[in-house]
Amino acid sequence: MKIITTGDGSNTLEHDTIGELYHSDRGAVGESLHVFIGNGLLASDRKAITVFEVGFGTGLNCLLSLEAAQRHNLAISYHAIELYPITAETAKELNYTTDERFIELHTTPWGEQQWITPFFSLTKHRCSLTEFDFSPFREHFDVIYHDAFAPDIQPEMWSEAVFKSLYQASAPNAIITTYTAKGDVRRAMSSAGYRVEKLAGALGKRHQLRGVK
Ligand SMILES: C[S@@+](CC[C@H](N)C(=O)[O-])C[C@H]1O[C@@H](n2cnc3c(N)ncnc32)[C@H](O)[C@@H]1O
Repeated sequence: MKIITTGDGSNTLEHDTIGELYHSDRGAVGESLHVFIGNGLLASDRKAITVFEVGFGTGLNCLLSLEAAQRHNLAISYHAIELYPITAETAKELNYTTDERFIELHTTPWGEQQWITPFFSLTKHRCSLTEFDFSPFREHFDVIYHDAFAPDIQPEMWSEAVFKSLYQASAPNAIITTYTAKGDVRRAMSSAGYRVEKLAGALGKRHQLRGVK
């Protein structure tokens, strides 16, 4: 896994076999703050929020959600799914923070709810999104971060079947936000039931998508 510095100075990773970046090369932190925190977490009108993240990756979205929870007095139950976790050693190389809880996000056990602060719990699921059993999570999640690798690279992560599962796991008025604005993704989200809008993308990118249940 190669560490790259993006346009805003924050690191991202380049996946060693598929060559994809984990974030926009314009700025990892900037993209995450725009797409997932601003247009996702903080767009919810709830103070107690259940989040589901597709692709835990570097843990950056989770770290920024933890920081936002403290800043905005939110109580967050954060779930993330990841099939190919990075090592804690790799996480230690990333320049996101000096807060040791960032490494804790990586070292906490899988499949169990862990309390990172009294107001932030993390449950990591080590599983493929396409195999995940959503049945215990019917109408459960208030905010979904869809942060898989690009639809051209991993189309199975963006299928209508996946969005139908996410829709069933979405609470009423839940938000789903993603960095892409690809037409196929928009159609799959709409067919699953979400009301989908195009928003300005991060860091000068034209568009991103957001859906509401
Ligand atoms: C764009 S990166 C995620 C970036 C991450 N959200 C972050 O803040 O660093 C996509 C992630 O999806 C994971 N992934 C790939 N295939 C998967 C699958 N079938 N199920 C779950 N996660 C998968 C990859 O290992 C990678 O960590």
